[in-house]
Order: sequence, then structure tokens, then C-alpha cells
Amino acid sequence: MTTLNHNYKKDVIMRSLIVYSSKGGNTEKLAETVRDALPGKTHLALVQDDPDPSGFALICVGFWLQKGAPDAAAAAYLEKLQGHKLFLFASHGAAVHSTHAEQAMQAARDLAKGNEVVGVFSCQGEVDPEFLAEVSTRPTPPPWAADAVTAVGHPDAADLQSLSEQLAAAVAKISV
Ligand SMILES: Cc1cc2nc3c(=O)[nH]c(=O)nc-3n(C[C@H](O)[C@H](O)[C@H](O)COP(=O)(O)O)c2cc1C
Repeated sequence: MTTLNHNYKKDVIMRSLIVYSSKGGNTEKLAETVRDALPGKTHLALVQDDPDPSGFALICVGFWLQKGAPDAAAAAYLEKLQGHKLFLFASHGAAVHSTHAEQAMQAARDLAKGNEVVGVFSCQGEVDPEFLAEVSTRPTPPPWAADAVTAVGHPDAADLQSLSEQLAAAVAKISV
């Protein structure tokens, strides 16, 4: 009974901001899934619009990986946040849980120090084929390039389901 009342309260009261960056549309799919999975009121915005984070119980920040870190626009936004509850989500060419991906997600946590990170999710996102072809012919291709072949078709339905589940687990920890 307590749990039901608690969820009901979140549906009525909780306000969340979803702010994301997406060059090719992969992270946008994740952001839309986050919006659809959250209880309560949601506001979806591009990081380029620099939305005011004040007054939200949860801020979900989405980014794509560039140079082994959150893309520059999302990184700048993350650095400005202070004292919020955050859920971080990302897409990348590297394999999930690869050293490259894990280090990049740690870089995101470091950028967001001064906030409480209540959950993190990342998955592969199909890499622009022209860009992948270009980096793959470099004398030293980036560490994620070899994994990128397995990123084709991602994020897929299973990725989005996993995102929804991890978000729900994070939201369950938040009191409103
Ligand atoms: C310019 C550029 C740089 C990239 N750098 C990385 C990287 O450092 N690590 C990685 O895992 N993936 C990298 N990728 C792959 C993207 O992060 C991945 O395809 C992501 O899903 C793109 O998200 P989006 O469609 O929301 O823009 C790069 C892609 C581009 C176009």
C-alpha cells in the first residue's frame, strides 16, 4: 500500500527535465524513451537551448560520445549543474561496458560532480557510415572504431527496454 501511494505521489508531483544532445538521432531516441518512461510531468529540451534546471526533482542528461567523452555541448551543460539529482544516459560506437565506454561515463560523472547521480545508462548507437569509413582508414583508428560494426541497428528495442528499467530503478530511489 505504501509503495502504491508513493508511486501515485510521483505521478502527481514529480517534475523532470530531460536535456539531451544528438547529432544523428540515436540519443534523441533514448531521450524520448526517458520522457515516456518517467512518472509525473516532463520537459524535453535540447542541450543547445540551455534549459533552466531549477525546480526539477530529476534532471536526465543525454549525450553521445565524442573523443572518448560526452560531446562538447552536453559536457558544458553538465559542468554547470550543481546540487541536482541526475540520471545520465548516452549512446556510443564503443561496445557496452568496454573500457572506452566506462571511462567516458566516468568522465561524465566527473563533469557532474557537485550533483547526485542516481542512475546511468549507455548503449551502442549506429555510427555515421561515412565518418566510420573515414576514421577506420586512419593510421591509428580510434579505440571504439573496431566495435562500431556491432553498433549497427542500435539503439534497438532491447536497448530502450533496458533504459526504461534502469530509469525506473533510479526513480524508485528518489523521494518527492
Ligand atoms: C564526430 C564523431 C565522433 C565520435 N566519437 C566517438 C567516441 O569517441 N567514442 C565512441 O564510442 N563513439 C564515438 N562516436 C560514435 C557516436 O558516439 C555514436 O554513433 C552515437 O550513437 C551518436 O549519437 P547521435 O546519433 O545521438 O548523435 C563518434 C561519432 C562521431 C560522428
